Amino acid sequence: MIVLGIESSCDECSVAIVRDGEEILANIVATQIEEHLEYQGVVPEIASRLHAEWIVPVYRDAIKAAGIKPSDIDAVAVTARPGLVGSLMVGVCFAKSLAWSLGVPLVGVDHILGHLYAPNLQAPIAYPALGVLVSGGHTIICSMKGVHEVEVLGTTLDDAVGEAFDKVAKHYNWGYPGGVIIDKMAQEGDATAFAFPVSNLAHKGHTYDVSYSGLKTAVAYQRPQFLKHGDIDNQANIAASFQKAAIETMMLPIMRALEDTGHKTLIVGGGVAANSYFRKRLSELEGVDCFFPSLSLCTDNAAMIAGYGYHCLLRGDRSDLSLRPEPRIMRFQKKLQKDVQKAAQK
Ligand code: KG4
Ligand code: ZN
Repeated sequence: MIVLGIESSCDECSVAIVRDGEEILANIVATQIEEHLEYQGVVPEIASRLHAEWIVPVYRDAIKAAGIKPSDIDAVAVTARPGLVGSLMVGVCFAKSLAWSLGVPLVGVDHILGHLYAPNLQAPIAYPALGVLVSGGHTIICSMKGVHEVEVLGTTLDDAVGEAFDKVAKHYNWGYPGGVIIDKMAQEGDATAFAFPVSNLAHKGHTYDVSYSGLKTAVAYQRPQFLKHGDIDNQANIAASFQKAAIETMMLPIMRALEDTGHKTLIVGGGVAANSYFRKRLSELEGVDCFFPSLSLCTDNAAMIAGYGYHCLLRGDRSDLSLRPEPRIMRFQKKLQKDVQKAAQK
């Protein structure tokens, strides 16, 4: 089955064509980074207007790159939630029109589940698994019985991890988006120059949660207090020490969740999954099979939407022309640690 996927939830306008949920025939991603650069963040109004301009050319490029005709498309999958409402609207409206004009099924899918599906595009994954979604908008640790069945164990109490990278980079004027830039700067820096705080919420009833507000404040305003050695204004050292603290903050609940659930498979998705220090730390975990998407499948792309959409279609999910974009979703509720341990013992 050939599924055409559409992703427009934030600042990437993407159309992909994927066969049977695994073979990527085309994955065109038009990024708006340059257009948002001067604001050091995504401006929703600009994002939706650009999606409206770009969606048709990106669709045409995808059809051409895949070497197919529109009539070869068997179904259309589109990110319907969560995201910026104006941006989602463009993708959803285009998807509805395309599916209607071709007379093929349409399915609106969840962006979060798309990110967690991305590693499946490279290798078959045996579930159950621990899923970790780390992006600019989300930080989620979850137990997965399959591609659809997700039980949220932990999330962030304040900023998403990618957002923390972006805000620190913005504070120091290092550029946008911050994640890639900090990752690069950190290669030249000493990660032990500053001992920035690593939040550990285990004792406060937030076993698998993280928080980034303390780290952000320390890096931006209180770095003299955390200086271990070296030069207080050495930018590469600040970047490397921040990156280390931000990633170690994620590692603690991930290790606790692996232990409590007994999962031996780990799936990581989202923009921060591209981080070189995070990838290194996760691949060092013993007794765990760790699946990362390739770098281009970490950040927003439509291949993950077409791939995950295929599985939604297989189980009979269909959307009709009443499909509406939903900026927020409530279904990612947390499970408490005692319930996680009880479930693992069964
Ligand atoms: O998944 P994504 O493209 O969009 C959302 O769904 O949010 O993630 C974008 C986020 C941004 O915050 C960006 O700074 C971060 O991913 N990011 C990284 C790296 N590459 C992208 N963060 C750390 N290290 C990276 N190499
Ligand atoms: Zn995303």
